Amino acid sequence: MSSDIRKGLIAAFTNNPNQYVSGEALADLLGCSRTAIWKHIEALRQDGFILEAVRKKGYRIISSPEKIVPDNILFGLNTSYIGRNVHFEETVDSTQNIAQKLALEGAAEGTLVVAEEQLGGRGRLERKWQSPKYKGIWMSLILKPVIPIMKTPQLTLLIAVAVVQGIQEVTGVQADIKWPNDLLVNGKKLTGILTEMQADSDRVHSLIIGIGINVNQQLEDFAEELQSSATSIYLETKTSWDRAIIIQGIMKHIEKLYLLYLQKGFYPIKLLWESYSISLGQKVRANTLNGSIFGLAKGITDDGVLLLEDEQGVVHFIYSADILM
Ligand code: BTN
Repeated sequence: MSSDIRKGLIAAFTNNPNQYVSGEALADLLGCSRTAIWKHIEALRQDGFILEAVRKKGYRIISSPEKIVPDNILFGLNTSYIGRNVHFEETVDSTQNIAQKLALEGAAEGTLVVAEEQLGGRGRLERKWQSPKYKGIWMSLILKPVIPIMKTPQLTLLIAVAVVQGIQEVTGVQADIKWPNDLLVNGKKLTGILTEMQADSDRVHSLIIGIGINVNQQLEDFAEELQSSATSIYLETKTSWDRAIIIQGIMKHIEKLYLLYLQKGFYPIKLLWESYSISLGQKVRANTLNGSIFGLAKGITDDGVLLLEDEQGVVHFIYSADILM
């Protein structure tokens, strides 16, 4: 069945949330027969959309399905390119691997890979990332900024700010950022972000930004060793959430901040990041792959690198580390 008609129907229902739209008007709008409209309405129903049909009035949307499917993300999405091209899979090893492959094949900027479950989810510093089925948001976004490699940490910080804002707007949960991009609520980890890139010696081709958000997990859904250090939006709000709506909120904030970044540079993003950060001004331990440094987190550079002043007053530039506070 034509996916253009399906997308057109979803767009028409997005634009007319509480109104009936007649089969004739939909057929005219989408340039197809009323029978084709009816068939696509039935297909949408089978995928979990609740659509009311009233004689002489037409169709009205009651609700979209709860399971994450690409159409759920598109229904109501109001970005112009971030998250508009969704590649969805039920089970993957890692959404990062799929996005890497799509980027190499020339996928458009803003392409989003989403999965219901990851069997080999990756975290920062070569850790594993638990990604249980139907519980969280496991997604990777392809960006293609024209920037030198040394500026890529800026994008990681931008994404952290956008994810904080998206989660806050949709669910009311206010997360803090621990450098560079862990989102914490009351010191417990809600979200992790992993940035990987495809680049040659002087130019970035694609950034693959992996975002993992704990959404509907109850405590027992976390492995025992994580139960004291992880949290979920459900645990913070005692409400289960439609993950597609949270994804939409995040896409909206990513697009807004990314456009701001492309126009005005990193400075406004840096100010926002600092306002959400709980690392700055604190004594922290930075565990890097080359050893551990204890000191005062003094700030971030214009490239997003952490400045850590040790007890001898030497300032270290921290590019990648696990921060203990
Ligand atoms: C971290 O260590 O805090 C980063 C975790 C990043 C997890 C996300 S889930 C979607 C994407 N796919 C992966 O394999 N990892 C990232």
